[in-house]
Amino acid sequence: MSRVAYVNGTYQPHARAGVHIEDRGYQFGDGVYEVWAIFGGKLADAEGHFARLERSLNELRIEAPMGRAALTVVLHEVLRRNHVRDGLLYLQVTRGVARRDHAFPAANTAPSLVITARATDPAAAEVRAAKGIAVVILPENRWGRCDIKSVNLLPNVLAKQAAREKGAGEAWFVDADGLVTEGASSNAWIIDADGTLRTRSVTSNILRGVTRSTLMRVIADKGLRVDERPFTPAEAQAAHEAFITGAGTLVMPVISVDGRSVGDGKPGPVATELRAAYIRYAKKGGA
Ligand code: PDD
Repeated sequence: MSRVAYVNGTYQPHARAGVHIEDRGYQFGDGVYEVWAIFGGKLADAEGHFARLERSLNELRIEAPMGRAALTVVLHEVLRRNHVRDGLLYLQVTRGVARRDHAFPAANTAPSLVITARATDPAAAEVRAAKGIAVVILPENRWGRCDIKSVNLLPNVLAKQAAREKGAGEAWFVDADGLVTEGASSNAWIIDADGTLRTRSVTSNILRGVTRSTLMRVIADKGLRVDERPFTPAEAQAAHEAFITGAGTLVMPVISVDGRSVGDGKPGPVATELRAAYIRYAKKGGA
């Protein structure tokens, strides 16, 4: 089946879709993005991702290419044209096309909007979750605005590649105080030696994960509590369980940190239950 991409107002064959070589996203990484998980043709956590997209654009002073209602129509059209029932939806907005100059282009430069979708196999994802993933630890080397979901992802790309080369599924960044910030493309959690759910506060320099905040509600519904307090890699290694959250991985158990098993080295019962509960919740609330 041939895929279709949305590019600045037109639907194009995915294989040939493109923007101009002087798009500022291409030249400067001057843009933002969002990723939605799709369940049964619906956008999981739609509201949270829209709100963060608007915030990211605002922080970078990039004009929104269209309003939320129109965007929702286009996002669903991309899903429809690609026959995606379960999968991932990717959206990118850049500051547009202009002659190369670091400072902003003329105010009338239209932002570029690109949207793609691809189907994923939910059964294969459950097989991966049943195995869990290894995590490696790397020094934090990103800029001070990780709250903006910018396409400028070079440290994340290098971190993920370092993880892959070690057979791991994610890399966790560790700051100058020796505390885990977040993953290259996910938020980091543990259930510590005292049995407390812990994840770093979003008031620090990390992405305000939408999956993270929805999972907070799921956790509260279960009568559990989260301590928004950072942890060290050693605490993660000594924890009962660890896991990551993100639109791409949902809730994914972590079975080792830098080569040391977490718990008994298998996905933990709480992470496994939270994954199932998150998926149930997201399916109910999809838009
Ligand atoms: N990544 N932290 C970072 C650095 C991320 O890139 C992501 C998401 C998250 C989790 O955010 P959310 O729960 O809103 O997806 C945390 C996406 C999935 C990606 O880059 O593909």
